[in-house]
Amino acid sequence: MIPHRRCELQKTWIDNVKTDGGTQEGRKMALNLPSIRADFPILSRILPSGRQLVYLDNAATTQKPKAVIQAMTDYYENNNSNVHRAVHTLAGEATDAYEKGRQDIADWFFVDREQVIFTSGTTEAINLVVHAWGRANLKKGDVVLVTEMEHHADIVPWQLIAKERGIEIRFVSVDPVTYRLNMDEFEASIDEVSFVGCVHTSNVLGTRNPVEEIIEMAHSRGNHGKGARVLIDCAQASPHERLNLTELNADFVAVSGHKMCGPTGIGGLIVKPEMLDEMQPFMAGGDMIEEVFLDHSTFQTGPYRFEAGTPKIAEAIGWGVAINYLSQFDMHEVHQHIHDLAAHTADKISKIPGIKVYGDHSDPTCSGVVSFLHETIHAEDLAHFLDLGGFAVRTGHHCAQPLMRKLGITATNRTSFYLYNTQEEADAFITHLERVVGRLTR
Ligand code: ALA
Repeated sequence: MIPHRRCELQKTWIDNVKTDGGTQEGRKMALNLPSIRADFPILSRILPSGRQLVYLDNAATTQKPKAVIQAMTDYYENNNSNVHRAVHTLAGEATDAYEKGRQDIADWFFVDREQVIFTSGTTEAINLVVHAWGRANLKKGDVVLVTEMEHHADIVPWQLIAKERGIEIRFVSVDPVTYRLNMDEFEASIDEVSFVGCVHTSNVLGTRNPVEEIIEMAHSRGNHGKGARVLIDCAQASPHERLNLTELNADFVAVSGHKMCGPTGIGGLIVKPEMLDEMQPFMAGGDMIEEVFLDHSTFQTGPYRFEAGTPKIAEAIGWGVAINYLSQFDMHEVHQHIHDLAAHTADKISKIPGIKVYGDHSDPTCSGVVSFLHETIHAEDLAHFLDLGGFAVRTGHHCAQPLMRKLGITATNRTSFYLYNTQEEADAFITHLERVVGRLTR
């Protein structure tokens, strides 16, 4: 096994997680859980079972604070209009609010606003790369390297153009014992690779991949002009890691608003400025054009070239407000909080007879997800009994069937924590799971 160097950026972030205690981002509010929970109305919901909701499905989507709900209601009650089109008052207000959303997102990710292309989420962002960059740049025989840990959204779109273009898709394998990518395989292929797609943090295992090293190696050794282009799927990282995308230096980064307290239906493809020139328009129609003639058209520059039609206006506003909400907290502390809840839960439930936990929760960079499976109780049956106790967890293949196959299973149950979850909720979940497993295996 070749020893791999963790590049400085990743090392710095890991060291901060271990030692920082929340000072890296200046003065931020400590996580005051009662006060945070009061910001999320849904957390006091009583379910039809009569139990209070314990929401542990945050990797699927996070709950929304009042500030986000109110901003979107306020927009619809007072400013609703289309953007970039008319000169009336509402149109101006809506355009300003929508573009402020873009600026908020750009500031959060340390990029310029022209680098933020709004999409419906991570899936659309990845599809945009495949169709706007891939179709314009990849040719027969080119190699796209992805990993077995990817969400289907970073596999299936490549399959769609691979057949048509004669592109080869290669996969870096996942070690089913350490839950890490086989970086020797990555290194063995990289000299022949034109494009790398890699998930930053696994939605199933919580593994944080060495993305800094992957980007560095792809750029210095890849086979597309001066190096391979790289797309990082940050859907599961951005909710708890403050990503500096300028430093990260990936060519493309895909993110979702709804996994970081924002509304559904909005996300972004964040691109390096020079990538805008390498992308061809994909979705075409209103707003993305400059001039249209009967035989040809010319197009807008910047992100607007890729935002055809009426955009997600209230959603962009809501996502910006969500980011401003998160910005009051130190994200190292948020990470530490969800990591600790997950590590504690993983440790306790792995001792319940018949339960196997997937993922290395002893790794301080592991996220807040805990995937597990009982050897005889069907995952859906278990989820049903958890739901009766008020515990919302996800069940299924998590849109990662190749990873499931590698693990030798078809599904898991998955709890995933966020900043508003408490130690009491984690302990109540552990106790309830123990009871359910005890009853179903008696
Ligand atoms: N990809 C999301 C999840 O892991 C929806 O649940």
